[in-house]
Amino acid sequence: FTVDMDPSAADKGAYPFYMLKEIDEQPAVMRKLVQKYFDGDQPEIDNNLLKDMNDADHIYIIGAGTSYHAGLIGARMFEKLTGTPTTVHISSEFAYEQPLLSKKPFFIFLSQSGETADSREVLVHVNENKWPSLTITNVDKSTLSREATYTLLLYAGPEIAVASTKAYTAQIAVEAILAKALGEYKNISAAAEFDLKQQLGTIANGMQAITDSKDTLEAVATHYLSKPRNAFYIGRGIDWSVSLEAALKLKEISYVQAEGFASGELKHGTIALIEKGTPVIGIITQDRTAGLTRSNLEETESRGANTLTIVSRHLAKEDDTIVIPDVDELLTPLLSVVPAQLLAYYTSLGKGLDVDKPRNLAKSVTVQ
Ligand code: AGP
Repeated sequence: FTVDMDPSAADKGAYPFYMLKEIDEQPAVMRKLVQKYFDGDQPEIDNNLLKDMNDADHIYIIGAGTSYHAGLIGARMFEKLTGTPTTVHISSEFAYEQPLLSKKPFFIFLSQSGETADSREVLVHVNENKWPSLTITNVDKSTLSREATYTLLLYAGPEIAVASTKAYTAQIAVEAILAKALGEYKNISAAAEFDLKQQLGTIANGMQAITDSKDTLEAVATHYLSKPRNAFYIGRGIDWSVSLEAALKLKEISYVQAEGFASGELKHGTIALIEKGTPVIGIITQDRTAGLTRSNLEETESRGANTLTIVSRHLAKEDDTIVIPDVDELLTPLLSVVPAQLLAYYTSLGKGLDVDKPRNLAKSVTVQ
């Protein structure tokens, strides 16, 4: 496939690996999305797309890997800001075991490359049934973009490292923009009150502040993550969804067997895996569940775990490991994932691995 781009955008410059460059580009991508998708304070989205989405009684989000994880965040936004029931599905599962669908489905395909065969398999079926669809992708004129009814671009610039970073945060931001636009189209007050443009500006600055603290994150990675074979990210709700992405980053480039886990579920079995020195990283950004996740962390600590935290500032305590700026609770993944990306990067780097080209993996998976 071809990528329309300025060739210098794919240059590593002074960076040792593309992944680090791409992590650092995230603040600029957030600003670019504001430029591309806002007219004044209002999101600007194709009216035909909004009309088709408004007519739907259920939104189905389809994706694989990191894109599936971005869908988990988007589903909450669509439900909270538009009132439309939304479910997220792994494309390779949906393709062969389709759930009972609603009467008027609308499909959103999330795919950085726009070429993932598992997702395309679902789109072929969607088109056979003449259901309306949208592809959110980084690659204009990619297969999924050409074959869906509508396309929204991520404008993240080429993502070369196998481990997806800036595409994940761009996908979440575009989902938020679309959810706000649709919610306003449907006259939902939560959408009108959602000050997304200003939040995205705060997030860009927050991402910058996190990427400026690389030394701390490198030290944490070296001390806690470089030796153990296993690690856990835990959280509840939206923090659990980010845990899945954080764990995927760590396992795919540093080969640490990492799991993202619902923190309340640990005691129902998985806590048996905790032994002396197992790193357990709690993601804590939600008022309602912060105390509960902290108790779950303590349960692992009393079984020997080394507990670490990624916490929103207003919930932070003295001993927290990484404190991130405060933003709207729906948008915290845009910040909480960044330290996790950097922890994975420095763990891989410290082990002397090829960060950009991990073993057994391809950037674009075009087989089912
Ligand atoms: C992410 O770090 C992975 N390399 C992988 O999970 C990826 O997100 C997945 O293969 C989906 O790719 P796509 O977004 O291009 O469809």
